[in-house]
Amino acid sequence: MQKIQKLVDLRVAVKGWRSEGKNIAFVPTMGNLHDGHLKLVKEAKLSADKVVVSVFVNPTQFVQGEDFEAYPRTEAEDQQKLASVEIDALFLPVISEMYGEDAGTIVSVKNLSTVLCGQFRPGHFDGVATVVCKLFNMVQPDIAFFGQKDYQQLMIIRTMVRDLNIPVEIRSTGTVREISGLAMSSRNGYLNPNELQIAPRLYKTLCTARDTILAGENCYEAIEKEAVKFLQHSGFVTDYFSIRNSNNLFKADKQDIDLIILAAAKLGETRLIDNVVFKKPSFDS
Ligand code: PAJ
Repeated sequence: MQKIQKLVDLRVAVKGWRSEGKNIAFVPTMGNLHDGHLKLVKEAKLSADKVVVSVFVNPTQFVQGEDFEAYPRTEAEDQQKLASVEIDALFLPVISEMYGEDAGTIVSVKNLSTVLCGQFRPGHFDGVATVVCKLFNMVQPDIAFFGQKDYQQLMIIRTMVRDLNIPVEIRSTGTVREISGLAMSSRNGYLNPNELQIAPRLYKTLCTARDTILAGENCYEAIEKEAVKFLQHSGFVTDYFSIRNSNNLFKADKQDIDLIILAAAKLGETRLIDNVVFKKPSFDS
């Protein structure tokens, strides 16, 4: 595994692989790698000749007052994990390599970036879209992998790639969970033992709401209200709990078949997000 910090060195590696006719898969991350990240890496390995993983804690996607400084940086452990799954290159740019002093270009995906998490983290998705666009231009992969856990992010990246004609295929993988059901996340490390006991209720509440819909209930507002009540009773401060169309993230209509329930809630200082994606059976027949 090559460790690369400079864009010029990355370009040399990529050019070499291209000249040998190899294709390239890419997994962008912010590090503190867990089994969710490693699942993306393993899928990437199955899909291409060469795999590049980036670790970059991107300052522009943290809103003021968020955890940019505290975000877990675990370089040595991350490198060990990536070496053990035998990737080809680990790209570790420093901030000045990513953003020049007078960098003034922002990639902003309209509409999708201002709902749900975008409403509570203004500017967050512009930071994500901009850095992912830059990483795509740096790595020039054929395929890139993203997790469904960050479903809104995934949709924003897909939209950006479509709108800007970026020649990369976006693939996604399902959410990897702890045995408790809690979605793996670098931020779970902030949870204290008591919060760790409560945190799996976020996924449980999503599953209960999904099962209620699958049982034929279609008053979505009532389901959402009930879920928020339960979460708040459990000690969460809920940003949103919302039943949406999984194709466009619009509020779900009773006729919609492709559904997603997304939730974001704070437990103490830790903000957790999760979702369940499912299809509603037709009750007509
Ligand atoms: P990060 O939170 O490190 O996540 C990197 C990738 O891992 C994302 O595609 C995310 O959806 C995926 N992922 C996280 N937890 C997962 C889980 N439990 N199961 C499966 N996949 C999971 O997302 C980011 O970094 C950044 O916004 C980034 C795209 C790198 C841009 O800075």
